[in-house]
Amino acid sequence: MSTLNLGRTVFGNPANTGNLITIEEAMSLLNEWVPNARLQLHMKQVAAVMKAWAIEKEMADIATASKWELAGLLHDADWEKHPDKHCRVIIEELEQRNIDPDVIHCIASHGPRYFGVPPVKKMDKMIYAIDELSGFIHAAALIRPERYNGLEVKSVLKRLRTPSFAAQVNREEINEAIAGANISLEELIAFIIEHQKAVE
Ligand SMILES: [Fe+2]
Ligand SMILES: [Fe+2]
Repeated sequence: MSTLNLGRTVFGNPANTGNLITIEEAMSLLNEWVPNARLQLHMKQVAAVMKAWAIEKEMADIATASKWELAGLLHDADWEKHPDKHCRVIIEELEQRNIDPDVIHCIASHGPRYFGVPPVKKMDKMIYAIDELSGFIHAAALIRPERYNGLEVKSVLKRLRTPSFAAQVNREEINEAIAGANISLEELIAFIIEHQKAVE
């Protein structure tokens, strides 16, 4: 069992359903907790992709899309300052702030192999699928002079098949997440390229 294992699968209080913090409040938390600009960018990218997926693929209303966005924006908020308690610290913070349990459960499901929380809802399954792949695609863009411009799905697929490229990214986890969300890898890669290229 990983030391990051949360030891529980129920988070927040159903009475808090619908309680969200604003994106501005979430950003001020990030600015305080995550001085590393590279890590902040990762969270903003995951947030943008999560929100866009909710709206375009799940036909979510604005309130629901905001939950997806918030979970993306905060999922690694405690990683920089508390790597040994990753996920636990941000979850407890959001529970104290009486935030919607869907958002907290989604954050807790972004790494099932570490946190021991199986993804349940579609937003849980998608954060798991988007998280690693988003970082991987960003790495693939950064090594090109044109960055995201002209970055093709097939070249990302080729890099995924090259174990030495971004070797820390676990391909097995990506495949597991894609299968769990019942989507195609190609579709998600194209979607991520499209929606995170403009995020700064
Ligand atoms: Fe994480
Ligand atoms: Fe992440």
